Amino acid sequence: MKQEDIIKKLNWFYSLEHNQVDLYTTQSKNTTDPYIKKTFARISTIEQQHVNVIADKIKELGGRPTLLGNVMGSLSGRILGKLTGKIDIVSLLKLNIKLEEKAMKDYKNFIARVKDDSDLYELLWSNSIDEDLHAGWFVKKIKEIEKRETNK
Ligand SMILES: [Fe+2]
Ligand SMILES: [Fe+2]
Repeated sequence: MKQEDIIKKLNWFYSLEHNQVDLYTTQSKNTTDPYIKKTFARISTIEQQHVNVIADKIKELGGRPTLLGNVMGSLSGRILGKLTGKIDIVSLLKLNIKLEEKAMKDYKNFIARVKDDSDLYELLWSNSIDEDLHAGWFVKKIKEIEKRETNK
C-alpha cells in the first residue's frame, strides 16, 4: 500500500475509534447497572487508547489525524437511538456486538494489506483483538441477562 493510502485508511479508523469512545461513554452514563456501567467506561478508555495509537502512527507517517464524518453508517444512529427512551440493554449489547464485529472485519482487511510494515501490523492486530474481547464480554453479558430473565 502507498503511504498516502495508509494514512487515509488510518484516518478512517481514527474516526471510527473516536466514535466508539463517544458511544461507550454515552452508554456508560445512561446505564444504571453498576457493573455494565463500569465496563462501558473501561471499554471507552480502551477505545481512547486505540484513538491515541492510531493518531501517533498517522503523525509518524507524516499525516495529520483527521476526523471523517459518518464512518459507522446507520449503526451508530441506531445505537444512540437506543439510548433515548427506555434502554433495552440486550438489544443495545447486540448492536454493540455488530459494531465490534464490523470493526474487526475492517481491521482484518487492512491487516492483510500492510504485512510489510511490522509496527503497523502489530498495532492493527492489538486493536482488533481488543474489539474481539469487547464483543466477547457483550455476548457473555447477554447470556447472563437472558438466563436471569428465564429463571424469574
Ligand atoms: Fe477500538
Ligand atoms: Fe471495541
